[in-house]
Amino acid sequence: MTTFAYGEPLTEVLTGLYRRAADQRSRRGPGPGRPSRGADGGDARERAVAAQDMYMPISPSTGVLAYSLVRAARPTTVVEFGMSYGISTLHLAAAVRDNGIGAIHTSELSDKKIAAASASFAEAGVADLITVHDGDALETLAAIEGPIGFLLLDGWKDLYVPVLRLLEDRLVPGSLILADNADHAGTAPYLEYVRDARNGYTGVYLDSDRIGAIELSCRI
Ligand SMILES: C[S@@+](CC[C@H](N)C(=O)[O-])C[C@H]1O[C@@H](n2cnc3c(N)ncnc32)[C@H](O)[C@@H]1O
Repeated sequence: MTTFAYGEPLTEVLTGLYRRAADQRSRRGPGPGRPSRGADGGDARERAVAAQDMYMPISPSTGVLAYSLVRAARPTTVVEFGMSYGISTLHLAAAVRDNGIGAIHTSELSDKKIAAASASFAEAGVADLITVHDGDALETLAAIEGPIGFLLLDGWKDLYVPVLRLLEDRLVPGSLILADNADHAGTAPYLEYVRDARNGYTGVYLDSDRIGAIELSCRI
């Protein structure tokens, strides 16, 4: 069991969200825990509505990894693609808060999730660190000011490449990109892109029981 040393009330809010996500998964039974059309078909908003009750969080260990990377990199701007109920965002917020520098821009299509996550951020005492962009990240993240020092990709998998390309000119050299669910078939074009040295990234694929599968990349 991963524990979080984020202090209260953030740890309690985060632990409660993970508990609800785990309850949901156990009620749904075995399987990927994702909407039936997954991230591979249909309009992004339709898929978001179909998944509006589903947590689909990053693993606790991936969250602690993201926290540690943000602590180490001390980015002024952190961007997240795919907030859902805000579990990953809370890990990022803990790091930004503990760094004493930086701000988070996150994105979500589901109004229901935005309302719930915003309440959680307020309850956790980190709402002032987070700007929630309501709508399609391909539009809402377009005007984010750089330099971006950390990017978490966890929205629909077929959009990883378009979102990365959208933000690429503001990724500072040395910035980190953590892409979750890197074992998902929909991430194949993304993996191909960041592994092509001509595109300016170096990185590694990590896969473990605790973390799940992620691709961690550095802009060079
Ligand atoms: C796997 S969940 C994110 C989980 C979250 N990162 C966490 O750890 O709790 C993916 C989320 O991305 C959102 N999403 C997908 N495509 C999007 C888009 N184009 N713009 C904004 N949000 C999007 C979905 O509505 C869904 O809630």
